[in-house]
This record gives sequence, structure tokens and C-alpha cells, in this order.
Amino acid sequence: MNGTWNPDLYLRYAAYRARPAEDLLPRLILNVPGDVYDLGCGPGTLTKKLKDKWPDRRVTGVDSSPDMLAAAREKFPSGIEWRQADISRWTAPTPAALVFTNAALHWVPNHETLFPHLMAQVAPGGVLAVQVPVSGPQPYHQCIEKVAEMEKWRDRFAGVHPHADPLPAKTYYDLLCPLAADIDVWETDYHHVLEGENPVTEWISSTGLVPFLSVLSEAEKPGYLADYSACAAKAYPRQKDGKVLFTMHRLFLVATRKS
Ligand SMILES: C[S@@+](CC[C@H](N)C(=O)[O-])C[C@H]1O[C@@H](n2cnc3c(N)ncnc32)[C@H](O)[C@@H]1O
Repeated sequence: MNGTWNPDLYLRYAAYRARPAEDLLPRLILNVPGDVYDLGCGPGTLTKKLKDKWPDRRVTGVDSSPDMLAAAREKFPSGIEWRQADISRWTAPTPAALVFTNAALHWVPNHETLFPHLMAQVAPGGVLAVQVPVSGPQPYHQCIEKVAEMEKWRDRFAGVHPHADPLPAKTYYDLLCPLAADIDVWETDYHHVLEGENPVTEWISSTGLVPFLSVLSEAEKPGYLADYSACAAKAYPRQKDGKVLFTMHRLFLVATRKS
């Protein structure tokens, strides 16, 4: 999925978007030599955290979006390598100490083959670390589907799909256990406190709405965003203080490759 990724909009909720990775990073311990890869690195914020954690390792951020890579390069011009590639076809030049991917694999299909492929890029004793949102049951995702089915948008969105949900945790376990010595998998709800007129639209327009916005003309976008905001306003009633509690459910996986 390339479309119109917007680094500025994505970074608006940077502190909240960073939370899951902040929970994931302390669990990562690297005991073997090798490089570190951040797949779907976006604007590079987390790639920089990986470099800070392992300053002596070569760290590479990989993304398919030229705009995201340009933003990453501009902010972090030295010390990190940036590569344009599609995760589904990416291979590590040499077995990696860490393949890390945060909030990106829901854009990449065929997890049944993708996960074993990513684990195969990891050196014996190295780590595959994944965080991916589980959106299907969440109102923000249901609004994406409801608005896409409205008569005025249905034809415009023929062939456009929201991102897919990850597989169940037990399926990832079974997919990886032939290659992994150890698999830690868990899920967490984050209740983000959002403010403003259309805070859910602001959050989701730089992620889940990207496939839909990317097929619309500039003239059409305000009407689509207004319809999405109307759905989100109903689905996320304000709390007593006027703020919105926006829940993201996220799946985490840390697998260590068999030696
Ligand atoms: C929601 S952003 C996450 C960015 C970063 N990992 C973070 O957590 O801040 C998702 C990123 O995945 C990238 N992406 C989506 N599909 C991809 C693919 N097939 N190959 C490479 N990158 C992809 C997008 O370009 C975008 O930068």
C-alpha cells in the first residue's frame, strides 16, 4: 500500500503512536551479531530509537513510501540507512540480529507466508519483533466500511479495501514455531484521550483512510472526511469533560530464532 502517506499528519499524534513501541522495545535483547531492520519505518522515529538502543549496529529503515523515506532522511540524515522496498518482497542481505516492524504489517497481505519468510531473514538466536493493530471490531474501522458503502461513495471506492486484520495469535504461534526457539505473543488495549472537533478523523486520516483518500480528487476529499467524521462522532460519544476515548487494540509478537 503506497497511496498518499502524509508524514506531518502521521506525526500529529506521535506520542500516542509511540506508546506500543515503547512497550515493545524494552523486551528486545540481542545476543547475536548482525544488523537491525525496521520494516515499514515511516518517518523514522522508531528507527532512530533502535539506533539509540544499539548504536554499534548497522540500522536500516525500509519503507515503500518515497514521502515517508524523504521525511526520515531529512530528520535523520546520518547514522541510519534508508531503503525503499516492499516488505512482501524484502530480504535481508545477511541474516539479521533483529527484524522489527511496528504498525506496518496490516498493510501487507498473506501473513501465512510473510511471517515465516520474515523469521527466515533472522539469524539463529536473532529476533523478529512485531506490533500490529487489530482494527476489525473497532468503531473507527466500522465507520470506514459504512462510509465506503454509502451510495455516493460506493462506485468511487470499487476495488478499494481497508487494511486487513492480523491473524489470531495462536495462528502466528503455529506459523513460527518450526523456526522459533521462543515466542512471546500478547495483546493490549490503548485508550487514547483525544481532543478537538474531529479527533478520530484526524487520527485515522493519516493511516486507515489513506487507501480511500488516495483515489479521491482534492475537491471530493472534504465531503468524504465530513461523512467519516459524522459516523465517528456517533460512534465515539464525548466523555464528561468533552474529550474522546479512542481505543486501539494491538497485537505484539517477539520470536527468537532457533540456534
Ligand atoms: C502506520 S505507518 C508506521 C510507521 C512506523 N513504523 C511507526 O510505527 O511510526 C505504516 C508504514 O508502513 C509503510 N508500508 C505500508 N505497506 C508497506 C509495504 N508493503 N512495504 C513497505 N512499507 C510499507 C507505509 O508507507 C508507512 O510508512
